[in-house]
Amino acid sequence: MSRAAELAERLLFREAVTLTERAYAPYSGFAVGAVVVGPSGRSHHGVNVENASYPAGLCAERAALAAMVSFGERRLRYVAVAASGGRDCLPCGLCLQALAEFGDPEVVASVGGEVRVVRLSDLLTAPFAGAGAPVEGARPERPPAGGPTGRAGR
Ligand code: THU
Repeated sequence: MSRAAELAERLLFREAVTLTERAYAPYSGFAVGAVVVGPSGRSHHGVNVENASYPAGLCAERAALAAMVSFGERRLRYVAVAASGGRDCLPCGLCLQALAEFGDPEVVASVGGEVRVVRLSDLLTAPFAGAGAPVEGARPERPPAGGPTGRAGR
């Protein structure tokens, strides 16, 4: 179900570990960083952003996903997630569902103290796809027809 990470994947994981320094996690003390990569190969960053009203907090993975979509990409290739110090941390169920909307990426994370790579669809076998929508683990890519960034097709 998972395999050991290769060099490029380990570097992506280290990038996520470095990002944890920017996390805003005063309530849990659990800092998380996430890096998502789409077709362009560019890294999009996210950290967890907590709130005094706990449910208003945001996970690092969904913050990174929002950065990717804001950039103009809608297809996930890689998601690297790390807790501070490289401690074990896999995406939560809510984030798995959010990520599945944009493909079936490889997830790079520490599992049992080792950096491993696992398919999103192995972590979330049956994502909710909405009433009548095709259940394929991901929806077809719908690149923007041309937005304010002019980066259509990414
Ligand atoms: N958290 C993430 O950012 N990503 C995960 O995959 C798991 C949990 C955050 C949410 C909260 O700010 C803190 O970690 C403790 O749950």
